[in-house]
Amino acid sequence: MIAIVSDIHANLEALEATLKDIRSQSVDEILCLGDVVGYGPNPRECLRIAMKECRFNLLGNHEQAVMQGAVGFNPKAKKAVEWTKEQLTAKEFPEQENLDFWKYLNSMPAQLTEGQILFVHASPLDPTNQYVVPMDAYNEAFIDELMEAVPQIAFCGHTHIPGIFTQDYLFLSPQDIDNEYIQGEKKLLVNVGSIGQPRDGDNRSCYILWDAEKRSVKYRRVEYDFETTIKKIEQSGLPETLGLRLARGV
Ligand SMILES: [Fe+2]
Repeated sequence: MIAIVSDIHANLEALEATLKDIRSQSVDEILCLGDVVGYGPNPRECLRIAMKECRFNLLGNHEQAVMQGAVGFNPKAKKAVEWTKEQLTAKEFPEQENLDFWKYLNSMPAQLTEGQILFVHASPLDPTNQYVVPMDAYNEAFIDELMEAVPQIAFCGHTHIPGIFTQDYLFLSPQDIDNEYIQGEKKLLVNVGSIGQPRDGDNRSCYILWDAEKRSVKYRRVEYDFETTIKKIEQSGLPETLGLRLARGV
């Protein structure tokens, strides 16, 4: 069994609670679809853990923004990118670790294909930046184009909205499928949700378990101490709203 996580967003409390939950399952390995950093107050700690615990970490748009500049980001997200960049370069931290982080950021792949599985941060058509939102399920031409790029199944994050896009133009939220879905003959695009900043109205961390033999996708939700994360955000100089939204899961 594989745990697939995404969009940790420097939220250490959410990441630690999720790892605890993952360890309570029979998981062989953890894969991360990007945005380890950005928005949250603990980019160094989360990067350190993700580099150690995940077999791979894909390049998210926030890692890309930290390295290349925050193009197309809203002012708050841009401020968080600049703050994160400072945290990863500051002289008060060991120089070697700073170098290791930057080397790692530069090595993050935008997408990976393993057999019939595609892993991307955002979309099979644009692995780092395209948003595929629930309403897109009803855009048949778009879904057809998307599924062309999917071998048999694809996993993504980026929107922070968990759910499964099917080849017959449906978006299935975790509630719609009672948190578990077995893949049939048709292709799927599975959004695994977000660890550190869920946006589906549920403030718990979200990730999935993928069982390749049963071809089952199982959504897991994990409560964490977001009050602590909110306090840290307030004290760090990051925009306050980045903390407040955590309580509401939006
Ligand atoms: Fe994200």
